[in-house]
Amino acid sequence: MGARVLAGASAAGALLTQASRRASSLSIRPHLVLIRAGTDPASLSYIRGKQRQAEITGLRTTVHALPESVTLPELLTLLATLNADSGVHGILVQLPLPPHLPVAPLHEAVDPRKDVDGFHPLNVGRLWSGTRAVDAPVLAPCTPLGVLALLRHHGIPVAGRRAVVVGRSDIVGRPMAAVLLGADATVTVVHRRSTDLAALTREADVLVVAAGQPWLITADMVRPGATVVDVGIHRISGEGQPVRLTGDVHPEVAGVAGALTPVPGGVGPLTVAQLMLNTVLAAERQVN
Ligand code: GUN
Repeated sequence: MGARVLAGASAAGALLTQASRRASSLSIRPHLVLIRAGTDPASLSYIRGKQRQAEITGLRTTVHALPESVTLPELLTLLATLNADSGVHGILVQLPLPPHLPVAPLHEAVDPRKDVDGFHPLNVGRLWSGTRAVDAPVLAPCTPLGVLALLRHHGIPVAGRRAVVVGRSDIVGRPMAAVLLGADATVTVVHRRSTDLAALTREADVLVVAAGQPWLITADMVRPGATVVDVGIHRISGEGQPVRLTGDVHPEVAGVAGALTPVPGGVGPLTVAQLMLNTVLAAERQVN
């Protein structure tokens, strides 16, 4: 029997309905500013997708498309202007940036209240702190929050269960571990230096894969019946064949897993939907 397909569209729809309803009850229209630098085609397409969804959700957007040659001081000046503008509620700097630009100073330069990516060290610290009130959600990275929303939407419990996260990036792996820990899972983070990766991934009831490596996870690495969330997305083009999108999880895993997210159409829509919700949350806090 094949794995149950955990499609993202219905879960994303539920988040978007909530974002839209909350946005419309505000006295102002939440305003999200998207910044990109250079001509990376994937970033271009992601920014377009985020902008389109924001408009549908009732948010205002502004896109700053900067040249590949933009300097750190120029970006810091732009961020300072946006931070000081009370008409801007959310700021997102699309990654990856051109290689000459360091990421950390940019994350630190976004006003934490407008940090809809949840990458500012203050928000990272808040996410990892177990002391925050349950009713005061922090601005946390969109993909991990989206993964949790996807699991909840499909009725997959995490509390008390073994969750294994493959990958330790700032964007997904690390915050994913914090989000799962906050949801009472028993969490292990594995990465390229882990010995016997397969033995570790086989322990997972819920396996979240964000390694950035196509087809890293094969059927022998998955416990029969486990839930597998594939965060990876890669363009694969064989000779004479059309470009296909695939994830970090080999398709053969569908024969072993109990449930599996598709690529595309799994986690992706949740990331965008969660960004809308983060922007609305940021706006609510700035106007109230
Ligand atoms: N590039 C890939 N994922 C993300 C994300 O979540 N936020 C930003 N800013 N850039 C990304």
